Amino acid sequence: MILAIIATLATPIEGANNNYAWIFGGIIVGSIAGGISARRIQMTAMPQMVSIFNGLGGACAVVLAMVELVNMSNPSPGGIGIAILTLFIGGVAFTGSMLAFAKLQGLVWDSTITLPKHNIINIALLIATVVVGVLLYLQGAELSIGLLLIFMGMTLIYGFSFVAPIGGADMPVVISLLNSFTGLSAAAAGLLYDNQIMLVGGILVGASGTILTVLMCDAMNRSLINVLIGGFGGGGASAAKGDGDQVAKEVTLNDAAIQLYYSQSVMIVPGYGLAVAQAQKVCKEVDDLLEANGVDVKYAIHPVAGRMPGHMNVLLAEADVPYPKLLDLEDANSALPNTDIVIVVGANDVVNPAALDDPGSPIYGMPVLNVWEAKHVIVLKRSMSPGYAGIQNPLFFHDKNKMLFGDAKDSLGKIVSELKNL
Ligand code: TAP
Repeated sequence: MILAIIATLATPIEGANNNYAWIFGGIIVGSIAGGISARRIQMTAMPQMVSIFNGLGGACAVVLAMVELVNMSNPSPGGIGIAILTLFIGGVAFTGSMLAFAKLQGLVWDSTITLPKHNIINIALLIATVVVGVLLYLQGAELSIGLLLIFMGMTLIYGFSFVAPIGGADMPVVISLLNSFTGLSAAAAGLLYDNQIMLVGGILVGASGTILTVLMCDAMNRSLINVLIGGFGGGGASAAKGDGDQVAKEVTLNDAAIQLYYSQSVMIVPGYGLAVAQAQKVCKEVDDLLEANGVDVKYAIHPVAGRMPGHMNVLLAEADVPYPKLLDLEDANSALPNTDIVIVVGANDVVNPAALDDPGSPIYGMPVLNVWEAKHVIVLKRSMSPGYAGIQNPLFFHDKNKMLFGDAKDSLGKIVSELKNL
């Protein structure tokens, strides 16, 4: 990007107002704001950070397209068509990302804001926006500013409406999708200005965002349409509940520490709760103490554990956990039957057996970590509350499982003290 900026500055456009004060002013203000927010951001707030930056990218595309459509530097039918497309994709990405940001930041009253028959309204709005876009295109170089403003307004409203029904933790998928939209709008703007760097950069973002979106949906075994229609969570028809008489067994800190200390192999399964508790460093401390006693410690990483792709890998890297200790889903599932103890740290849906054996469960079909195949399981979480999918987890009532209630960082810290006393 720096090279692209330098190259652009080195080739001023003849006759244009190359106002360096504005250009450098923008670069300095943007770099300071971006640098400070990137340093300050908490890992758990990363999705909203990506979202707001992405929205600004979409806003840039809108501004570029509006300037182009009003000034018409390229009045050919192709040029006008690309500008209208840039405006459409950029507008949707802008307001969609801003709403996604507001939802994740808890700035809106409800994570899913829907009107009755919202999906039908969305389709109607999309068709109406496309029709207005086509009308605008047919007006050619003499297009009406009034219609252009109506079109811009409709793309912005559609962006809001598109994201509105999508629920809290489906946001990473929609953010990734909006990210790919912004990439596509930048690529379209690159075509418009015959700017290869913009085109290549936009295609890279568009393609990687699309691949990431598809991978996330695959890892959850859900279709993109299903995510976009929204309303996930809250339990399906036969969302497995602990029957009234089922009781989850508890383990004391002391027992947990003793079991861990005298085992041969331990598998740690991190989840969203580890990120919330910021328990990665104390988790590594437990790992170090166990390794010092000859216990083989590994980590099982589910592809959608946490709230963003690679969430657990980044957290564990922050705590200096060596990469070879991290097993992916397949390797972890092969190793689990030979594991003495699994410690599930703030994970829930990714270790839910209902995904395998309850066809009525909303997560049925999602590949999960088969932790119940290990000899013993200890789940660290604060309560019996469900995870993101909003369903109870039969693992908690499994014969091999014991619960250790409390904040993950706090519980692991106490296990460290117990281990040090052994
Ligand atoms: P979840 O199923 O969301 O469960 C997290 C658990 O952590 C909760 O049950 C919660 O129980 C516990 N927790 C929260 N704060 C805690 C704390 N301070 N200390 C200890 N425990 C705490 O997490 P998961 O297993 O990582 O699954 C991720 C979910 O997100 C999946 O359903 C996945 O499909 C979805 N998702 C992920 C992604 C990506 S890319 N990662 C994208 C979209 C959707 P308590 O409240 O009882 O403590």
